[in-house]
Amino acid sequence: MTRPSVLVARAVFPEVVQRLREHFEVDDNPSDTIFTKSELMARLAGKQGAFTTGSERIDDEVLAACPQLKVVANMAVGYNNFDIAACTARGVLATNTPDVLTETTADFGFALMMATARRMAESEHYLRRGEWTRWAYDMFTGSDVHGATLGILGMGRIGQAIARRGALGFGMKVIYHNRSRLTAEQEQPLAARYVDKATLLREADHLVLVLPYSPQSHHAIGAAELALMKPTATLTNVARGGIVDDAALAVALRERRIAAAGLDVFEGEPAVHPGLLEVPNVVLTPHIASATVATRRRMADLAADNLIAALNGGTPPTPINPQVRAASGGPG
Ligand code: GLV
Repeated sequence: MTRPSVLVARAVFPEVVQRLREHFEVDDNPSDTIFTKSELMARLAGKQGAFTTGSERIDDEVLAACPQLKVVANMAVGYNNFDIAACTARGVLATNTPDVLTETTADFGFALMMATARRMAESEHYLRRGEWTRWAYDMFTGSDVHGATLGILGMGRIGQAIARRGALGFGMKVIYHNRSRLTAEQEQPLAARYVDKATLLREADHLVLVLPYSPQSHHAIGAAELALMKPTATLTNVARGGIVDDAALAVALRERRIAAAGLDVFEGEPAVHPGLLEVPNVVLTPHIASATVATRRRMADLAADNLIAALNGGTPPTPINPQVRAASGGPG
């Protein structure tokens, strides 16, 4: 019996590629080139599986060009690079890597929020420029995190993990807005209060975005939303570029309509809106919220587990569209 073939679209832990080689014919990408769409289609042609990251867009055109494809396994919890409706319509199982990165991403979101509130990047740049000559009572005064109101937009697993840090570790009041309200059992230990979006924007001292990107969440934070926020508030985005209108945010930061922002994700990344690079009151990081060695390894292992199970007749641990397998009665 011929073994299934898979494409590992980006460089990843060699041990994980080796594990995949025990099951499949593997075409990998050790030089870590980001494929253009036509390169991706050419490399995927004839293959049954793909190990992808957020940089590979799997849309209907790609799926149509690769009719042998059965599984696309994303090494990310977010999957806005997949057209899930198209995958489902064409009988392609899609998987992601939830849970394994929740706490690590929450650590980073909280750290970025703290760095933003306490002006850590801005003050470090000042020190490095050699401008620190004396103490001053108002030098880099920021705003308190402990006891402040933490606003969370998108109260899924990572949002709840950030809320836990705020409520239990820092005595923060937690308010949130989400498509669906948490249960009383989930809200109670955090004393989390469900509010409408406008109230969230008006009341939060520190607003953290943790919602998935979709056409519905595109520019969920734009000029109108920023205008509702307190001038002393901070905004932290560890979700996805495109949820914030970066051009509008750059203006709000420049005009000090909000105090500061912490951004790990950007519209059109790795490009960063030039207006954001010009303002001092923003902490910028290159999409690294899940980047610890242990967590990245867990993500890669989980993506590999999904691929191996799906192509070997097992049960993939974290499917996005499990109805595909139910409809096909298995891997086929
Ligand atoms: C990272 O952004 C992820 O979605 O895992």
